[in-house]
Amino acid sequence: MTPDEASAAAAELRDIVQVVRENLLWQAASGVVGVPRARNVRRLGAVDQAQEAGAAARRAPVLEPAEAPEERPLELGRARQEPAAPAHEPAAREVTAVVRVAPGKRLALLAELAEEVKGCTKCALHAGRTQTVFSRGNPSAELMIVGEGPGAEEDAQGEPFVGPAGQLLDRMVGAMGYERDEVYIANIVKCRPPNNRTPQVEEMAACLPYLHKQIEIVSPRVMLAMGNTAVRGLLGVSEGIMRLRGKWKLYKGRIPVMPTYHPAYLLRAEGTKRDAKREAWDDLKAVMGALGRSAPTKKG
Ligand code: URA
Repeated sequence: MTPDEASAAAAELRDIVQVVRENLLWQAASGVVGVPRARNVRRLGAVDQAQEAGAAARRAPVLEPAEAPEERPLELGRARQEPAAPAHEPAAREVTAVVRVAPGKRLALLAELAEEVKGCTKCALHAGRTQTVFSRGNPSAELMIVGEGPGAEEDAQGEPFVGPAGQLLDRMVGAMGYERDEVYIANIVKCRPPNNRTPQVEEMAACLPYLHKQIEIVSPRVMLAMGNTAVRGLLGVSEGIMRLRGKWKLYKGRIPVMPTYHPAYLLRAEGTKRDAKREAWDDLKAVMGALGRSAPTKKG
């Protein structure tokens, strides 16, 4: 093979990989959670194939809340002994099995985890907190929203996103047709960083196992990652939000994640040339599409 042929073949291979990757992300965003294992696949004729595809589509909503969930005991008490996952952990590239916690057990498991977080001293942030800020919202939400970490008001009230950025987030959630607490909201770090600075890598690494457990318990169908810290923590990527926003990613190879701007950035960008709110709305619409929702019609 000549060098030109080799480089053309490499370019073709890259294109194929890109197309396959985008297709898998699209399938995941559409609710496809797996494919039959080879030993279960019969040789199908064209008619059989069409029937099988229809049956698969009807089976697809395995993530719907009505579906009887698989149960698995979670050993929450062990979280403290686990080695902290590095913040750059390539969570997006790991593929893990879909294991769901029974909806009836989620509240209790989250409460148990929140208690554990209350006593956490794994990183220096604990020294400056008034209280830990664990989460708010529906433990069985189809949509989970991940932010960076508590600010002054969240630290004072013990709830995420209650300050000005939170009020904007509530409006965004409402625009998607959800009640405020119909979604589940959590942060990468659970304690307020001093002067609202960005959490450091070690702080994120110490706190991330808690978020991974929250995700495992809530088992959302889709996640919205707000801002740089959220995408770094969730996906282990180093690209910034400006490049990533609007592009579907996968958490642990299975939960579609839409990166978008942090509401605090949207507030700062108000009145500037960049139409960040319109871009964010495009991202929210993509999430609604993946969840089979349409924007609510305006009342009055
Ligand atoms: N910003 C965040 O990222 N999280 C909060 O809880 C509040 C503001």
